[in-house]
Formats: sequence, C-alpha cells, structure tokens
Amino acid sequence: MERIIIEGGIPLHGTVQAGGSKNAALPILAATLLTAESCTISNVPDVSDVQFMVKILQHLGAHAEPLDKNTVRVEARNIRDEAPYDLVRKMRASVVLLGPLLGRLKSCKVSVPGGCVIGPRPIDLHVEGLNKLGAHFTLEEGNIVSHTQELTGTVIDLKSKFGSTVLGTENVIMAATVAKGVTIIKHAAQEPEVVDLASFLEKMGAKISGAGTPTIRIEGVRALHGCEHRIICDRIEAGTFMTAAAITGGNILVRGCDPVHLHALIEKLEKMGLNIHWEKYDIRVQVDQPLRGTKVVTEPYPGFPTDMQAQLMAVMSLGEKSSTVIEKVFPERFMHAAELVRMGAKIQVRGDTAHIDGVKQLSGAHVMASDLRASAALVIAGLAAHGQTTIHRVYHIDRGYENIDEKLRSLGARIWRERDA
Ligand code: UD1
Repeated sequence: MERIIIEGGIPLHGTVQAGGSKNAALPILAATLLTAESCTISNVPDVSDVQFMVKILQHLGAHAEPLDKNTVRVEARNIRDEAPYDLVRKMRASVVLLGPLLGRLKSCKVSVPGGCVIGPRPIDLHVEGLNKLGAHFTLEEGNIVSHTQELTGTVIDLKSKFGSTVLGTENVIMAATVAKGVTIIKHAAQEPEVVDLASFLEKMGAKISGAGTPTIRIEGVRALHGCEHRIICDRIEAGTFMTAAAITGGNILVRGCDPVHLHALIEKLEKMGLNIHWEKYDIRVQVDQPLRGTKVVTEPYPGFPTDMQAQLMAVMSLGEKSSTVIEKVFPERFMHAAELVRMGAKIQVRGDTAHIDGVKQLSGAHVMASDLRASAALVIAGLAAHGQTTIHRVYHIDRGYENIDEKLRSLGARIWRERDA
C-alpha cells in the first residue's frame, strides 16, 4: 500500500488541467453495452474506478481496450448478463450496469452493493424505476437477479427523501432508450454527468429530451448504434484544485472545466473572500484576503455538491470565525471531520450538521483516508498544515483522481508518495 506525504505551507501557483469526469465515464462505459457496435470514448480519466468498470465490461464479454491513457474503445458484440462479484463489490457505482444489461439482454445478475462509509446507500429507487418499465427482481444469494419479457415506457418518479438519485436516473434512462414507447422520468437528477450520458446516448441513436431538467422524456428506439464521444471535464476534480488554492493562499488557473458546473462552489468561495474569474473553460482562483466563514447546505445539482463538502470543510477549518455544513444528501458523510480534528481543526458534528470554528493553523499528522472525497480533504488540509502530513490508505484517492500528487506538485506543492514497508 502507498501513503502520501505532504510538507505544507506553500501557496500554490500556476496552471492545472482538470481531467475527464469519473462520474460521467462510469455510466457512459456501462451504456456501451447497449449496442453490439463499437464505441470510442475519449477524455476518460485514468483512475481505478474506471479501470474496474473496464474490467467488468471485459468479464461480461465485451472487447474493451484502452487506445491510449485516456481513450477506451468498447465493442460489446456478444455479452453475458452476470457481473462478477469480486469486481462489483469494489465499486458501488457498478449498480449502473442494471439498466444497460436489462435493455440489451432483458436479464441481469449483479451483486447488491453494500453500504459504505458515507452511509447506507439503498437502491430502492433504481429497482422501483426499472420495475415500472417491466423488469422483475429477486434477491438470490446476495445478487440482484432481474429479467423482463419486454421493457415498456411509463411515468416514473425518482424522488427520494434526500432528493433525486443520480445513478438511479441514469439506470432508468439507459433501460428506457430501448423500451417500447415513451418514458417520462419525474424528479430526475439534473447533474451535468446525467446530461453527458444523455448526449452520449443520443449519439447512439436514442431519443431523449429534457436531460438537465427535473423531467426527462425518452422515446424508446429499436436499437442503438456505435459512436464516438468525449467525456465532460470533472467538476469535482476542478473544484478540489480550487479549494487547494483557497487553503494555501494561492493563485492558480484551473483549465478545462465549465464554470457553470461549479456555480455553487464558486458562489461559496467568493463568500469566503476569494477572487474568482472565469472565461470559457478557464477559472482563476486567487486569495488576497483572509478567508471568512460561511454556511453550506449540500443538495442535488444545481445545489452545493456533497462531493465537495469534505474539501470545503478543510478550507473552513482555517476560516476567520465559524462555518456550518449541513449535509442533506448523505447525512452521515463526516468521516473526514475526525481526521481534520487530529490536524488541529475545531469541528463538532451533530446529526447532519457540522460546526467549524476557524483556527489559526493546522498541524501535520498521520491521518487515515476513509473514502474518496474524505481523502481529498486530508490532502487539502495537509497542503496548508504546518509540518508533515502522512495520509494512509491512499488507494481511496486513486479511485477518482488521476495523478493528484503530480498535478499538485506542478503547482508548487511539496507532495510525494511512499510505499508502506
Ligand atoms: C452519485 C455519485 C456520487 C455523489 C452522489 C450524490 C456517481 C458514480 N456517484 O452517487 O459521487 O456523491 O451521486 O451527488 O455518479 N437514494 C435512495 N434510494 C435510491 C438511491 C439513492 O434513497 O434508490 C438516496 C441516497 O441514499 C442518497 C441520495 O438518495 O441519500 C442521493 O444518492 P444518489 O444520487 O443515488 O447517489 P449515487 O447515484 O449513488
């Protein structure tokens, strides 16, 4: 296993390119199963979650081969309907195979994803939505087994008590593209990654309107075909670099990301006193005054993303006065708070709310990564902390960030990896 070591205290300067979106790449790779023809996907991030998905596609019988580091070609001519437990259990997002397998083969067997450190993660809405389209589900030895005679369009409401569901919306969209008739999804997730999936499916011949709004209409077609697609930029990776500049008092240019996708984060960082300017796909983040505290409530897009909550909390821990975070999407997602406290942060968590009293300085410590975004928060904190921070279990960060240490080094950070003895 590897650990990341950071010697903090250096303001970041320079330019960094954000890569392709992991959360767009995963459903889009799964969607390639909907056709026997070849699909070429570019701007695919080279991260371990994507590597798992490519391995799953290969196990299912697809020819999935990297053409270069960030381009994958998939041809799913003859595929089977059973995803391997050993790979699926490593990545909760593999639940997004349900929709395409049902659409293509009318049957599938995928192991039930467990909860994870960010809390229980039910899939009742995925099952309910696909069931309304005509798929029947049983639970057999820890696997979701599903089959259908025919998928038929209908009206499906995907609202959970925490808002909309991203992967649930994507599953239903994918199955509905080849269902008979029209499907209307109400309370659909509006995330840019859902829009990117819809635009990929449209290139495959699907008829979809309303992606990016709460109501999506899909008119089923008989078959989909191959195409080429470039994945959108990763707004969470871009946002993570922005928080790195914020916490170190830096001045950086993040290239490649649509500022509209980062509106909620930009608004909060501006409230905290940062200077942010953007032009097309370039965002400049500059700190020229002390950081102020603020209040953040996480919500589905276009609200403040839960996937940026941990990184912003690290920044808040050095803010003047106090800040509040209310986590409405995953109310238990505060594993990073205890590790930040070990670095000197003053954070109190009660239920879905964290109160952060800004401190003058964080200090380096040995800390444990618990999930993808929590580990990003520890890196952010380490960049500002006095002394040396060692982050253990960094495989969590490699699930969703391509070469984060290399990219931060290019901005002047003193960060490197070592192998555990
Ligand atoms: C996706 C993202 C993840 C992000 C999350 C919320 C991917 C691969 N992952 O995860 O990075 O943090 O969106 O923006 O795209 N829920 C139910 N029943 C369901 C499904 C979800 O109650 O059937 C609840 C969840 O417990 C959670 C909320 O709905 O409280 C939102 O979850 P959801 O949008 O489904 O998250 P994912 O799609 O799994």
